Formats: sequence, structure tokens, C-alpha cells
Amino acid sequence: MILAHSYQTPDIMYGVGDYVGDSYGLSVTATEHPAKKIIFCSVYFMGETAKLLNPDKEVLVPRVVGCSLADSISGEQVRKLRKKHPNAGIVCYVNTYAGVKAESDACCTSSNVVAVVEAMPQQEIVFIPDKLMGINLRDMTSKRIITWEGTCIVHEAFNPDTVRDIRNRFPGVKILAHPECAPGVVALVDFAGGTSSMLDYVRDSPAKTFMLVTECALTDRFKAEFPGKQIVGTCILCPYMKAIQLDDVLKALKDPAPEQFIKIPTDVAERALASLDRMFELEKQGKSILQKRGESSFGPAHPTSGREPKRRP
Ligand code: 13P
Ligand code: SF4
Repeated sequence: MILAHSYQTPDIMYGVGDYVGDSYGLSVTATEHPAKKIIFCSVYFMGETAKLLNPDKEVLVPRVVGCSLADSISGEQVRKLRKKHPNAGIVCYVNTYAGVKAESDACCTSSNVVAVVEAMPQQEIVFIPDKLMGINLRDMTSKRIITWEGTCIVHEAFNPDTVRDIRNRFPGVKILAHPECAPGVVALVDFAGGTSSMLDYVRDSPAKTFMLVTECALTDRFKAEFPGKQIVGTCILCPYMKAIQLDDVLKALKDPAPEQFIKIPTDVAERALASLDRMFELEKQGKSILQKRGESSFGPAHPTSGREPKRRP
């Protein structure tokens, strides 16, 4: 099966992808599909997540590409953080390599991060690697959040002036931002959430005009899939995601190079998977804590966001 992340180009998303969606949702979809071989058109860490959830399947990426967030931290650096903050729990965002997930107490996605952090037993949380998401969390949880210096080069590039400008020019516009954006941006929007949560929001909203403060392939995807709605915004491309070309997918199908196969040492995979499993446990507990308080996470939590992948027509 060919999985295409929503930040891929339309020729890959709509031309060859069997399913289009967000990173975690696609990996979950793969677990429910009989195919034994998965080509994940996306950055390397997303291929790793698919491999963690589908250990008996062959998982390949069309090209080995990094990500500014995932590349900002290694497993060794997480071990050092643990020594430096012995009383803190360590929560890692899913945009990390397996070696980092393996050293963390729990993983999280952009949809369930608030619930996961809130349910951690520790009062002090080291949140890695996204500094901006970590700062956003300080306003949304009761925990003391220690951040790391990673950022997403796409989402950090948006600024509050762009959001104000769009609001002035399009009265009634609903503005949605990814929580990897700066707090000054998130404070001005109608909704902050990951890819799938944004999709749910636009589909269910009676509003007619939307601005997406995120990678611009998502804007293209929403324009294609919601022809009755007006989607406006600026365009910032992820150079990592866009490094993958249709030819690379063909190579992965016909003549893959050894580095295109995702391989994760067994002990690392076991511990990384434990951190993903912990995420589900904490998410459940965290959601009931937030419900009691009448608060919510960034956007709707899984399973909605884990079920988003859409089969190519
Ligand atoms: P998703 O987890 O929503 O797929 O987002 C991936 C990403 O790279 C965000 O910048
Ligand atoms: Fe990484 Fe940002 Fe690109 Fe996503 S959009 S792959 S977080 S650099």
C-alpha cells in the first residue's frame, strides 16, 4: 500500500497514494490493511512510526529525508535531559525518531498533547523537541513545562501580522493554526490543532471562508476536497516533504536501495512502542481530567484524528 502524507505534492497524494492523511492516522490505517509492504511517502520519522506499529511489515520511504524538529534531538540528548531533571517526566512529540521515543516516558500527537501532559504523574514535564508547542502548552496545562530548542521551520515562519491581515481582509473568516506555530499566532486564531483536527473543523463548520496557518499543501488539499468553501492563506512549503518526487516512489516500488527500508533495532523498537502505548493510556485519563475542568485539548483527540486517512477515489 502507498501512504501519502497531506504535505506531499498532489501528484503523489492523488496520483499514487492509496490513502492520504496525517502521520499517525496513516500508520494506524496500515495496521488494519492486509498489505505486507508499505511505502510511506513522507519524512523518515513518519516511516519509523509506521514500522513501530507494523513490525511484521516491510516499510519503505521513497527518499530518506529529515525534519528540523526530529533532527534537533537524539536519544543520547534525552538521556542527558533525564539526568539534568531527575524529577521530571519526559513527553516527546510524535515528530521524533524512534531512538528519542524510546528514551521518553510517553509520546504524544498534536491532538492529544494537552491530555497526555495533564495525565503525567509528575508536576514537572520536559517537553521535546518543539519549543513553540511547549510554550503553547504552558498556557493550557497546570504543569511546569521545560522546553527544548527544536522548531518546525515551516510553522515558526508564520507571524501574527499575517493572521491580523487575513482577518481584516476576509470578514467572518475562521483561522486555524497548527500548535507548532508561535504563541503570538496561536493566541489570535479560532482553532489550534493538528492536520486531522483542522480537517474535522472545516468539514463541520458552517463558515464559508477559512485560513490555514500550516504547510500549504494542506491548503491545496482542502481546496480540492471542500470545493464549496473558500480557503485563503499564505503559502509556506516544507522543503523536506517536498524533496520526495514521483520518481522516488517508483524506485521504492521497483528497485529500492537498502537505506529506504526502515529498520529499527529490536530493543529500541520495544521501548519506543511502550512510549506510544503509554500515550493511549494517558490520553484517556487526561481527557477525563480536562472534561471535569471543562477544558479541551488542541482540537479533538483521537480516535477522530487517528481515523482521518482518506482512500484515494
Ligand atoms: P501531522 O502529525 O498532523 O501529520 O503533522 C505532521 C507535521 O509534520 C506537522 O508539521
Ligand atoms: Fe518537520 Fe515541519 Fe516539515 Fe513537518 S512541516 S516535516 S515538522 S519541518
